[in-house]
Amino acid sequence: MPVKLEHILKRVQALPALPASAMRVIALTKNPETNIKDLQAVIAQDPALAAGILRQANSSYYGYARRISSLQDGIMILGFQAIQGLAMASAVAPILKVNLAGYEIDQEGLWQHSMLTAMTAKKLCKILKLPHGDTAFTAGLLHDIGKIIITVYLQEIGSYILKKINDSSLTYAELEEKVIGFGHATVGGFIAKHWNLPPELVSAISYHHTLPSEDPHPDVTAVVHIANSLANTMGVGGGVDSFLNPLEEKALARFQLTEADLELLMAEMGELLSDPSLFG
Ligand SMILES: [Fe+2]
Ligand SMILES: [Fe+2]
Repeated sequence: MPVKLEHILKRVQALPALPASAMRVIALTKNPETNIKDLQAVIAQDPALAAGILRQANSSYYGYARRISSLQDGIMILGFQAIQGLAMASAVAPILKVNLAGYEIDQEGLWQHSMLTAMTAKKLCKILKLPHGDTAFTAGLLHDIGKIIITVYLQEIGSYILKKINDSSLTYAELEEKVIGFGHATVGGFIAKHWNLPPELVSAISYHHTLPSEDPHPDVTAVVHIANSLANTMGVGGGVDSFLNPLEEKALARFQLTEADLELLMAEMGELLSDPSLFG
C-alpha cells in the first residue's frame, strides 16, 4: 500500500508557485534598505494583499481606536515583520482554502486552523521572549500544508487508519507515515523545500508532530508543535486527526510551560477568535 516517493514529489511539483508579488513584498521586508514608499508601491499592485493589510491593521489584535484607511498608515502600524507574515498569508490563502475530504476539513477549516496556529506561535514567542516570532508565524501558517497532498490518499484509506488507531499505540501522524509511507508533516517539508523556503521553516513543518532528537531550529519547531495542539484543543482544527496527535511533554518542558500558562494563552486565543476579520 505505501506510495512511492516519486508519486508524492510529482504532486508537490504540480502545486502552484507562490505569487510573485507576495514574494517581492517578502524580499523587500527582509531588506533593511527598504523604505515605506518602496513597500507601499509593491503592495498597491496587489489589491488582495493591500485589503488584507488594512483589515489586519483595523483588527482588535492591534487594538487601534481610530480607523486606519491608508496603506501607508497600515504599513507603519503593522511594521515590516508583520507585513512579511501577511504577504505570506495572502500568498498561501488560496492554496489552503480547500476542502480536504480525507481529513474531513471543510473549505475554510485548514485556513482558520493555520491562521490561529500562526498567531498563537507568534504570541508564544513573545511570551517566551524568543526572537523568532515572525518565523514561527510563517511556520504556523504552513505547518499542515502537506495535508493538501495526503488528503488524496486518506480518502481511500482514512477509515482503515481510524480503525487501526484503536489497536495500536501510534499517533495519527505516525500511522500516515506507516500506512501511506509519508505523513503530512514530511510532505509539508517537501513542499517548503520546493518553494525554496528557509531551513528553519522546513524543519518546523517537517517535525511539527514529532520533535526530533536533533533539530538545528528546535525552538521554532517546539513553539509550532504547542501552538498547533492548542488550536486543536480550542476546537479549531477540524480534521479527524485533531485529537489523535498528542502534545509532547518535552515541548512544554523545553520552555518550562505549565498548565496554567497554557490556559492563559488559550484565553488570549479565545479573544482572537472573537474577531472574524483576522480570519478573512
Ligand atoms: Fe499537522
Ligand atoms: Fe495542525
